[in-house]
Amino acid sequence: MNSFISWIGGKKLLRKKIMEQFPGDFDRYIEVFGGAGWVLFGKEKHADMEVYNDLNGDLVNLFRCVKYHPDALQKELDWILVSREQFFDCVAQNNIQGMTDIQRAARFYCRIKLSFGSDLESFGVRPRDLQKMIAYLREVSNRLNKVIVENADFERLIKTYDRKSALFYCDPPYYHAEKYYTDRFQLEDHVRLRDSISQIQGKFILSYNDCPEIRKLYIGYTLIEVDRQDNLVSKTNPRRYKELIIKNY
Ligand SMILES: C[S@@+](CC[C@H](N)C(=O)[O-])C[C@H]1O[C@@H](n2cnc3c(N)ncnc32)[C@H](O)[C@@H]1O
Repeated sequence: MNSFISWIGGKKLLRKKIMEQFPGDFDRYIEVFGGAGWVLFGKEKHADMEVYNDLNGDLVNLFRCVKYHPDALQKELDWILVSREQFFDCVAQNNIQGMTDIQRAARFYCRIKLSFGSDLESFGVRPRDLQKMIAYLREVSNRLNKVIVENADFERLIKTYDRKSALFYCDPPYYHAEKYYTDRFQLEDHVRLRDSISQIQGKFILSYNDCPEIRKLYIGYTLIEVDRQDNLVSKTNPRRYKELIIKNY
């Protein structure tokens, strides 16, 4: 199934190639940098235990509300119209106190859905079937039924779930694309990630933009080159870029 949102760096177009590289023998699947969860949603079930994680608290709150309170969220979303005014109200209400988690999730969902390229800030003008989008949340809720939803930094998450039988899928912010994310991912975080996953008992699969710095960080691992369409720069005029799939098996 498809994810219910688009997200910067989302793996909608690459998920098939990523899943082709999954090993056959794992019983826990951990999506460390969850985002829109395109790979998670790419299969009805990856393993008996599945974990979705992201550091972004608004995103995780949205996932939790879809999972646990789909009806209440759908009700809250009923008032949404495709209007510039309402979109900017949602942006302005981002950090105000006193909202319930469901009210917060509805406003964040509205920002993702109504913004240009899901940048959360600029209003995107295009027709949308909002009723269909809102109805889809029920299916998403069913898919998330047994998925554990976490809101942690990758290092702690990896330590918590590491086992011999674990598969970690890591899709960190691209190297040199830090400005596109609210939670800044700096050079030391890329190094911290390499150090963290190089010590695990389980297996990892990692997707990155193909650049000399990342190739250097992952010398000694299996590197697979794949093509990706870049929509960070422009959705209307996409360019093709090389991406790397890196794994420790
Ligand atoms: C490239 S996106 C993931 C896209 C996702 N694979 C998809 O298909 O939509 C990277 C995600 O990492 C999250 N992130 C950034 N820093 C993080 C950290 N230190 N620990 C965990 N997640 C983090 C961001 O919030 C962002 O959602």
